[in-house]
Amino acid sequence: MSEAVRDAAFFDHVGYSTVWEDERCIDEGLRPAPGERVLSITSGGDFSLQFLLADVASVLSVDFNPRQDFLLQLKVAALAELSHDELWGFCGLESCGERGGLYARLRPRLAAGPREYWDRRERAIRRGFLFDGKQDRFLHRAGSLVTAALGRRAVERYFTSTTLAEQRAAIGPGLRGWRWRALARVLFSRAVFNRAFDRAHFRYATREHHPATLLREQVEGVFLDLPAVENYPYHWAFRRGFRDREHCPAWLRASAHPTLRDRLGRLTSTVGDLAEVLEELPEDSVDCFHFSNAFDWVSLAQFVVLMSEVVRVARPGARLCYWTNLFNTHRELDLAIGALGGIREERDLADGIHRASRTPGYSSCTLGTITKEW
Ligand SMILES: C[S@@+](CC[C@H](N)C(=O)[O-])C[C@H]1O[C@@H](n2cnc3c(N)ncnc32)[C@H](O)[C@@H]1O
Repeated sequence: MSEAVRDAAFFDHVGYSTVWEDERCIDEGLRPAPGERVLSITSGGDFSLQFLLADVASVLSVDFNPRQDFLLQLKVAALAELSHDELWGFCGLESCGERGGLYARLRPRLAAGPREYWDRRERAIRRGFLFDGKQDRFLHRAGSLVTAALGRRAVERYFTSTTLAEQRAAIGPGLRGWRWRALARVLFSRAVFNRAFDRAHFRYATREHHPATLLREQVEGVFLDLPAVENYPYHWAFRRGFRDREHCPAWLRASAHPTLRDRLGRLTSTVGDLAEVLEELPEDSVDCFHFSNAFDWVSLAQFVVLMSEVVRVARPGARLCYWTNLFNTHRELDLAIGALGGIREERDLADGIHRASRTPGYSSCTLGTITKEW
């Protein structure tokens, strides 16, 4: 990975407190099975934890940004120490005057690095650490602006709709209005994304399409065509919370809490570059790879080198998944297949997951099976 990307100011902080990729890419795309071994980009930590619910044997979670690792370790300590009620309050999802006290309880479970980090971030702890990520703050600001453009009451009606017809009636008129279109042109522009994220994130951006229009269309498609009730990512962006304790990221669900607690010991996390971590892994040792959209930030040549390592460490039949940000150039799996062989792309499955994705902002989801057959 280039130094420009790794050293971007964006990474001086937690970038992502939650994962903004549709979690169905895990259960429906990667289909982790009991006893399998997983390698997962940490990001907000949500998916690294979600894998445990599939009863996998081990998850190795990797991120070059130590703050993402500190975040995952805080989530792990909170899951281990707190009741689900306490966890919900500690995250900032309901009013709770006790966050400092809850942190003091789970603090002894943290290793020195995350403990020193979170000790210094007292305000983030008091506010609720789930609100700390730069991307999450951007989503919340964007959610407020879009709500103002579409009308507060229309957005409220959308979130209380129980059928597609109701939600279309609630939100459709606003989406046809000039306010929304004017806002989308600015809010989804490259200039705003460069400021909210980092110019370096779009180092490999394609100039062949107009992302603002595509992103507006995706946001509209999710509003109109996907059930509001199930859309916890929109809830997070627009309402800064979740509908209830089951309509939220898998790791946070009340029903998942006891199982997850029992399996936390199967999760290991490390700080480092994916390339270095892959190099260290033995042959035939991984069944599931979740790469987030990390390949957006590497050159085509680096992508092929990473894939050759993936093929080496994969067990026959292993699955991989990655997303491509709407602004960036898609790293074609076909190219790696042409150069290396031993991988089969699962295009129909991936396209279905992308089409039904509740998190706009990606041009594709890519899935592959590493067959190791040449
Ligand atoms: C690619 S970003 C995208 C975030 C994602 N769309 C989301 O909302 O979760 C996810 C994480 O990948 C990490 N990352 C990206 N490239 C990496 C690499 N080559 N090695 C290790 N971590 C990487 C970043 O630090 C970041 O925390």
